[in-house]
Amino acid sequence: MKQMKHIVFLTGAGISAESGISTFRDSNGLWENYDVMEVASIDGWRRNPDTVQKFYNERRLQLDSVQPNMAHKLIAGLESDFKITVVTQNVDNLHERAGSSCVIHLHGELTKACNESKSEIIDIGTKPIELGTKASDGSMLRPFIVWFGEEVPLLEKAAIAVTAADILVIAGTSMQVYPAAGLINYVKRKTPIFLIDPNDVITGMSGIEHIKEKASRGMSILTEKLKK
Ligand code: OAD
Repeated sequence: MKQMKHIVFLTGAGISAESGISTFRDSNGLWENYDVMEVASIDGWRRNPDTVQKFYNERRLQLDSVQPNMAHKLIAGLESDFKITVVTQNVDNLHERAGSSCVIHLHGELTKACNESKSEIIDIGTKPIELGTKASDGSMLRPFIVWFGEEVPLLEKAAIAVTAADILVIAGTSMQVYPAAGLINYVKRKTPIFLIDPNDVITGMSGIEHIKEKASRGMSILTEKLKK
């Protein structure tokens, strides 16, 4: 039996933009309205856990009113012909809800909570974490998110996937946040790389085919190319 080609997707906020979830760095993005270091850093959490908790409670609740878009669905649909790994910086669950079976969440997941040491992880769905709730070890129950200033535990798993990729697709990320952005450097030489983004993105890599479209249109174009 012929082995399926392995396509690795590196996705970011732009893949969920057409579902109605704000990106971070576009105009009117989340970081225009919030101070990233207040709501998405370990120091911000230590200074003001209630503000951070409220910010993620809102993001989590939003999951009830958004749906996967065509881009998420087309990525999931490729599983019939390819081995697909999705490495996402997104904390939403839209890739899974579209049917993707192998999703590596580099920056954590909104639908999970954990204790301060992250040794205990629980599914909470879209429910809020009430302010002041304790985990079973007595520490504060917190969103299961990788904040600025924290380790990215799934980085090595993601790097192994990127190295194994026959095709790499970068979609909807500004490639500004490390170490996630550095994953592109793990790709094998001569591996075809596609970029789907309506804007220019600096990747530090040459020879990339840029499909300069929004995610759903970009994924339709890529799907056609892959079928050939
Ligand atoms: P950014 O907001 O930095 O980048 C979003 C990218 O999506 C940009 O390149 C946009 O041009 C592109 N984009 C916008 N609309 C799009 C659409 N409809 N279709 C396709 N692309 C579109 O978001 P990320 O790169 O995901 O981390 O940000 C990385 C990390 O920074 C996040 O995971 C988050 C944030 O701080 C943490 O909070 C830890």
